[in-house]
Amino acid sequence: MNETPRWASESFWKKTAIWVTAGSFLILIVLTFDTLSKTSAGSTRVPDYTVINQKIDYRFDEKLNKFMPIIGGEELLFDKKYTAEEAEQLVTLGKKTTQAKNCMNCHTLLGNGAYYAPDLTKAWLDQGWISRDMREDMMLKFLMDPENNARTFGSGRKMPNLNITEAEARGVIAFLKWMSSIDTNGFPHNFTSIESEEE
Ligand code: HEC
Repeated sequence: MNETPRWASESFWKKTAIWVTAGSFLILIVLTFDTLSKTSAGSTRVPDYTVINQKIDYRFDEKLNKFMPIIGGEELLFDKKYTAEEAEQLVTLGKKTTQAKNCMNCHTLLGNGAYYAPDLTKAWLDQGWISRDMREDMMLKFLMDPENNARTFGSGRKMPNLNITEAEARGVIAFLKWMSSIDTNGFPHNFTSIESEEE
């Protein structure tokens, strides 16, 4: 008569808690592997590191209705053709430099970071580097001594000198070039790349 209904019993809720936790855990594992396969270098959206040997552009795609990276023919970085291993080493050095120097404290990379300074996701294609011929040299000089090579990328703010060595700066540039080839689902939108300047 006064028996507790099944759905209100303690054991029912204990079992429910266990099933929900176990179920969520499984979904989390599946999603983790699903994400890893989509975010690792060499997947559909993230080109492998040898993309630094190629020309990269970023244009609006009418069909997809969003900006998309365009990977073109050969366009060497620092006049060198990198093997898969060398490219990975160089990009990794750049990535580690951005972490060690905490660029995210001011910049945003792939949606993570701050908005004190320009978004670096497509910085390789920034028109601020004037032309494709001058770009690498200007980037090297800027990264190694930003105070004396201030460019005013629209912010009117100055980047401090972070004591980046030339080797590190080359790595950072390779990292930025590789990052600009990543399909970021149309982000940033309304971007005019350095490539369109020269047409
Ligand atoms: C204290 C803040 C701060 C930190 C930390 C910082 N930057 Fe900057 N960065 C800036 C500012 C401000 C600008 C804009 C400078 C200008 O207009 O001259 C800038 C500009 C840049 C640009 C040019 C942006 C473009 O649109 O092309 C690049 C590339 C860049 N930074 C790379 C880096 C890297 C790589 C790191 C880490 C190693 C870093 N920055 C760390 C403040 C910072």
